[in-house]
Amino acid sequence: MKTRHFVLAGLTLALLAACAATPNNAPQASQMEDARATVNQVVQTLGGELKTALKEVGPAGAISVCQEKAPQIAAAVSEQKGVKLRRVTFKSRNPKSVPDAWETRVLQDFEQRLAKGETAASLEYGEVVQDGGTKTFRYMKGLVMQEVCMSCHGTRETISDGVKAKLAELYPNDQATGYLPNMLRGAVSLKKPM
Ligand code: HEC
Repeated sequence: MKTRHFVLAGLTLALLAACAATPNNAPQASQMEDARATVNQVVQTLGGELKTALKEVGPAGAISVCQEKAPQIAAAVSEQKGVKLRRVTFKSRNPKSVPDAWETRVLQDFEQRLAKGETAASLEYGEVVQDGGTKTFRYMKGLVMQEVCMSCHGTRETISDGVKAKLAELYPNDQATGYLPNMLRGAVSLKKPM
């Protein structure tokens, strides 16, 4: 009896070790294409809203648009496509944007790839993982700083006093400033149970 238990335990351990050692569970090309299209839709819709708001009400006024529109757009597209979407970053403005362990690794990888000269548009990564016991497709697409982002995520010089005051009021723990163009601002993170 005892030996059988040992054998079973040994087998379980071997299996666990094998799973842990399994390299990158590559997703299918169609999964990557769908995720890319979904994320691009969100990024483009939000970018459009942002540009319109900046033109019509200026950066201080556009803050609330960004605050309300970003989650609305993400929620609408998430529902339409049956996925979960959110934005993540190492320096968050919205405290909900803190990355989990998987997202942290991918963000670090994006930073390295960007430093090696990869283009902003090519920063994406997808993997099939076990997420709390559910086989899940995860995907991330990098968001890189552009000139248009500088009025709200840039330096002391590029952020106006009005924007600084509004940000201090809405986000007392804001860390999302001090960026320069072409730095990694964060990523859109997508999850889809399989
Ligand atoms: C008008 C001001 C404004 C501009 C311009 C702006 N943002 Fe933001 N950004 C915000 C606000 C406000 C939030 C917090 C939104 C929230 O409450 O979820 C935010 C949040 C984010 C987040 C989520 C992570 C976090 O810090 O919470 C990312 C990623 C992001 N912005 C990227 C960008 C990029 C890339 C650009 C340029 C294309 C940009 N932003 C331009 C105001 C702005």
